[in-house]
Amino acid sequence: MSNFRTLDDVDLRGKRVLLRVDLNVPMEQGRVTDTTRLDRIAPTITEISDKAGKAILLAHFGRPKGPDAKDSLRPVATELANVLGRPVAFAGDCIGEAAQKAVAAMKDGDVLCLENTRFHKEEEKNDPAFVAELARLGDIWVNDAFSAAHRAHASTEGLGHKLPAYAGRTMQAELEALNKALEAPTKPVIAIIGGAKVSTKIDLLENLVSKVDALVIGGGMANTFLHAQGVNVGKSLAEKDLAATALRILDKAQAANCAIILPVDATVAFHFAANAPSHAYGLDAIPADGMILDVGPQSVERVHSAIDDAATLVWNGPLGAFELTPFDRGTVVAARHAAARTKAGKLVSVAGGGDTVAALNQAGVAGDFSYVSTAGGAFLEWMEGKPLPGVEVLRAK
Ligand code: 3PG
Ligand code: MG
Repeated sequence: MSNFRTLDDVDLRGKRVLLRVDLNVPMEQGRVTDTTRLDRIAPTITEISDKAGKAILLAHFGRPKGPDAKDSLRPVATELANVLGRPVAFAGDCIGEAAQKAVAAMKDGDVLCLENTRFHKEEEKNDPAFVAELARLGDIWVNDAFSAAHRAHASTEGLGHKLPAYAGRTMQAELEALNKALEAPTKPVIAIIGGAKVSTKIDLLENLVSKVDALVIGGGMANTFLHAQGVNVGKSLAEKDLAATALRILDKAQAANCAIILPVDATVAFHFAANAPSHAYGLDAIPADGMILDVGPQSVERVHSAIDDAATLVWNGPLGAFELTPFDRGTVVAARHAAARTKAGKLVSVAGGGDTVAALNQAGVAGDFSYVSTAGGAFLEWMEGKPLPGVEVLRAK
């Protein structure tokens, strides 16, 4: 962490702080349905405000193609004020007169949210003139949006070249947790990777096999590996055209001394529905008209002992069709086991990615992991070993 400047390295008093946050929260009918991301950034905003800085929030919402009322940040700013327990002013544009006037009206300690940066197409282009327009609103730039750091946009990256740049408290915590998980972990390290498809995670698997000591593969993507090894997976989801890719990843793992832990049995149903009748089968006996919807009980045992052997765990993706009961069982049981090891001080556990957070919440253990990232795409790109533009720009030059 020493190579990132943080809020400890700047006197915030009276400063106009352009603070990049992730306000891309789930909404239904104009109301925020999950405040996790708002809760996460609250400490940074509060600290800037308490230290008499002016917190000017920059964020995107959705993927609008231009100004679009349904993607306004106004209702999010309202909810943020509730979370913070202090007022949040709002400006109807992130540049130009509306923004300049709103900033000029701020007193030390005030919080202001600017409208969706993606209402300007120049944001995603990282357009220098747009960056300059944003930059004139602030004295320093603080990036607290790890989950948007895989985007090289004006507000997530461009500003870092134009203003003194600092990591916010959430970004700082995220980078510290990720560092402990893959860059400088306590060994042995185990990764648990699940989810439906190998095709979306090829780069990730190839990077991980060279970094971790053991890799558990679950979810629909495990079927692709089993099929590649000659297992008859019946009607299970499997990307049969990726058999060669799967074998290449297995070879790479072997060369790197990474143990691959694939399912040894499977929970099979005959239609894809919650509570569909199901049985556990050995891999040599998967019925031709059956569908693997979860790892089987012996596989869960193997995952448990693999977790017991590890000092560090990185987790992304569910082990089965966790959105359908009882096919969430493998994921829930393994997550609870990892949580218990973490609570016992035996394991550093880091998890991230959209479905993963939902699965840990379903298991009731998100709070017991060492760190749960709210990032989706950025977490995956980090696991792929790719530099994230919004993080790279923070490295002290
Ligand atoms: C997210 O919600 O994952 C981040 O805010 C990034 O959003 P994006 O994928 O639209 O860039
Ligand atoms: Mg996304």
